[in-house]
Amino acid sequence: MGKLQMKSISEIVQIGPVIPVLTLESVEQGEKVVNALYKGGVKVLEITLRTSAGLQAIKCASQFSSDIVVGVGTLTTAVQVEEAKRAGATFGVSPGLTRDLHWAAKDIGLPLLPGVMTPSDILIALSLGYDIVKFFPAQLAGGLDMLRAFSDPFPMLRFCPTGGITQELAGSFLSLPNVACIGGSWLTPKEAMTAQNWGEVTRLACAASQLAQHKT
Ligand code: 3PG
Repeated sequence: MGKLQMKSISEIVQIGPVIPVLTLESVEQGEKVVNALYKGGVKVLEITLRTSAGLQAIKCASQFSSDIVVGVGTLTTAVQVEEAKRAGATFGVSPGLTRDLHWAAKDIGLPLLPGVMTPSDILIALSLGYDIVKFFPAQLAGGLDMLRAFSDPFPMLRFCPTGGITQELAGSFLSLPNVACIGGSWLTPKEAMTAQNWGEVTRLACAASQLAQHKT
C-alpha cells in the first residue's frame, strides 16, 4: 500500500475533529488501540514519546492502513524529531516551541504543530511562520475563555486545544471559530485500556468522529 503524500498541518486538522493522544505501554497495545480507533472512524492520531514503546508503535501504526495519519507527540528535542520521522511519523506535536525543534522539523520535512500557552509564545510561533498551534494545557491555561480572548489580537491564528478536554467539553471547544481541531486522551481511558475493552474505545471514537458537525 502506498503512503499518502506529505500533508500540511492545515490538511491534517481537517481529517478529524479530534486527534487522540495515545501514550502506550507496548507495541501490542498500540496495535489494538489503533484498530479500535480506526473502527470508530478515527484516521488521524498522535502517539507520544512518553513511553519506550512510542517509536515502535508509531512504526506499526503508520503501516496499519494507507489512509491513517500518524503523528508523534511530546516532541521536546531535535533528536526525537529525526527518530520519529524515520519511524514513519507524518507530523509532529510538541508541548512548547523552541527554535531547535522548529528547525529540526523543517529540515527533515516533518510538519509541526507546536504548543503555545501565552501571547508571547504565540508571537514566537507567528514569527516562525505557524498559522496553527496547539493550545496546551488547554483547560488549565484558560480554556474556552482564553481562546475567545486570543481571537481579537491573533485573528490569523487557529488552535488545536489539548489538555483536560473531555467528551462533554469537546463540542464547545470545536464550536469556536479559531479552533481547528482538538486533542485529548479521553478516547482511551485508563480503565478501558487496562481491561482491554476495545469496544469502549471504538464507541468513544465514533462519538468523537461525530463531533465533526461542530466544524461545518
Ligand atoms: C497532551 O499531551 O496533549 C495531553 O496530555 C493530553 O491531555 P489529556 O490527557 O488531558 O487529554
